[in-house]
Amino acid sequence: MELPYAEPYRIKMVEPIRLSTREEREKWIKEAKYNTFSLRSEQVFIDLLTDSGTGAMSDRQWAAMMLGDESYAGSSSYFNLKKSIKDITGFDYFLPTHQGRAAENVLFSVLIKAGDRVPGNSHFDTTKGHIEYRKAIAVDCTIDEAKDTQLEIPFKGNLSPEKLEKELAENHDKIPFIIVTLTNNTAGGQPVSMENIKEVRKIADKYKKPVVFDSARFAENAYFIKIREKGYENKTIKEICKEMFSYADAMTMSSKKDAIVNIGGFIATRHEGWIKQAATFNIMYEGFVTYGGMSGRDMNALAVGLDEGTEYDTLHARVGQVAYLGKKLDEYEIPYQRPAGGHAIFVDALKVLTNLPKEEFPAQTLVVELYLEAGIRTCEIGYLLADRDPVTRENRFGGLDLCRLAISRRTYTNNHMDVIAAALKNVFDRRNDIKRGMKIVKEAPIMRHFTVELERL
Ligand code: F0G
Repeated sequence: MELPYAEPYRIKMVEPIRLSTREEREKWIKEAKYNTFSLRSEQVFIDLLTDSGTGAMSDRQWAAMMLGDESYAGSSSYFNLKKSIKDITGFDYFLPTHQGRAAENVLFSVLIKAGDRVPGNSHFDTTKGHIEYRKAIAVDCTIDEAKDTQLEIPFKGNLSPEKLEKELAENHDKIPFIIVTLTNNTAGGQPVSMENIKEVRKIADKYKKPVVFDSARFAENAYFIKIREKGYENKTIKEICKEMFSYADAMTMSSKKDAIVNIGGFIATRHEGWIKQAATFNIMYEGFVTYGGMSGRDMNALAVGLDEGTEYDTLHARVGQVAYLGKKLDEYEIPYQRPAGGHAIFVDALKVLTNLPKEEFPAQTLVVELYLEAGIRTCEIGYLLADRDPVTRENRFGGLDLCRLAISRRTYTNNHMDVIAAALKNVFDRRNDIKRGMKIVKEAPIMRHFTVELERL
């Protein structure tokens, strides 16, 4: 008999969590204005809000923290991190930042000006925010197939070469770079194939444009390439990562995901000139170039996390747990973005709450229902997150409306996955009784989902 997979670690410290009553949750979610970002963590049983900065560090990482060098300049922790980044990505130059969006802020301060256009695959909201804040436009070139949640294809995060080529042909003088998000979070944690990365590189070369990777979940992307793409079965994750990055000019990184630390980010690149220009912004916004908003101990933990996060066993258990949850939902026939993503399951709210019009934010309604059902905190990746069109100020109802169940790395067990699936089934079974959705009461002009206040209709 083939052995089932098991986590390549055992647990030596635990953090208690508590299931509340439905009455308590009714009160708390109302006080939070139906926005799960406004809940206190004590009000949550299983936290699936994000997989960002919420993973469990290893004993090796904690040990590395104790060796952190807190010198203002030139610390050994900086050089440990520099070596680790070079080993994994091949990039010679890097700047630490306090997290991913800070890396975007610093790098985009160098590369983007008003009126520019930045094509890519479903830019993450902070990426889009940093582009639009500079009065530039994020042009989505994701393949159309990504919009059909029930279509099962191996690399649903891909860019459409046709859309990209058209954008470059028409607007090449306005395009500072192409951005490739690995994995494509917004489209459902879906990977981009090596073939697609190579094709993007070819188009970029034709128009002499650089390629930047938004690399938050690059290791999960490499794992999918290994298990799904012909020719990569026998390569190690680290070899695949090296090849992926060989097609990029630079990367921004949120270390809070695949590098399994609680805080941190960086920019890495092969262009010394870019780093020199970015250094000024880094010093202004983040900190001196050898710490950039991170403590020495955090850089040390990140150096180890990059190594562990790109090990096959770690990824096999991690992506396997997400797939396990996906299989449970299959049993209950709950529709989600197929196939299961690397870091999360994205439930297709439009296919669950079919009674609700888009204007009533079905995915956010599902987020609230799941919290009420079992104290499970998720987030909406849908119409709230899509914000308003910067020009027309209309809500952007064109895309998917998903409830994201993000699974933190090395944090929950499969028993928790069973509870999540059962809670979702209960909501799914009473879906036809959910006849009204949500209404926005207050919203910020940009990235509104973090602070939006809602009312139940
Ligand atoms: N890029 C992607 C693809 C992301 O998913 C995120 C963060 C960022 C950039 C920004 O990084 O949070 O370190 O500043 N995503 C988190 C999430 C917040 O929940 O998906 P950050």
